[in-house]
Amino acid sequence: MVSVNRTGSTRIVILTKRFAIKIPRFGDLEYFAAGLLSNLRERRLSRECPDYFCPVLFTIPGLVVVMPRVKTLEKAPPLVHAFMFDLHHDCNKRDRQAQEAQQWCEYAYVNYGLYKGRVVAIDYGTFVPYRQSLYDLKHYHYLLTEHLRS
Ligand SMILES: Nc1ncnc2c1ncn2[C@@H]1O[C@H](COP(=O)(O)OP(=O)(O)O)[C@@H](O)[C@H]1O
Ligand SMILES: [Mg+2]
Repeated sequence: MVSVNRTGSTRIVILTKRFAIKIPRFGDLEYFAAGLLSNLRERRLSRECPDYFCPVLFTIPGLVVVMPRVKTLEKAPPLVHAFMFDLHHDCNKRDRQAQEAQQWCEYAYVNYGLYKGRVVAIDYGTFVPYRQSLYDLKHYHYLLTEHLRS
């Protein structure tokens, strides 16, 4: 069954049984440009950070990005927490792949999925300011600690 996901901020995503096909949003030039840029970045970053990002299988630069369709994790927050704690772990300070990935991983459950049994980012085309990542991480760490205490 083919469906179209329009919840993305800059792209529409055609979902087939096996693939997710991302195309910049039409209509508004600014969104279209942002969608193009996200597609271009994902094309580059999927090769640079294969441990963290869902692979790009095929691309028409900017216009189309094709990834495997994965199961998204909005209903499994602990898996996303674990991914984020691992990504931002102190031991990654000199790990270039992790350092790069940190800039593109937003703390939003819908941005992650399960690919071949591991958590990967599926939306990594938007820059995440370092301060925001740290703030989100601390905030969720707090929530998690409270949850474990209760
Ligand atoms: N590889 C994928 N597998 C399954 N669903 C996906 C995949 N990529 C995107 N989606 C779905 O499409 C939505 C929008 O895609 P996304 O990459 O977040 O676009 P945008 O950058 O415009 O926000 C995602 O929130 C997710 O629900
Ligand atoms: Mg998105």
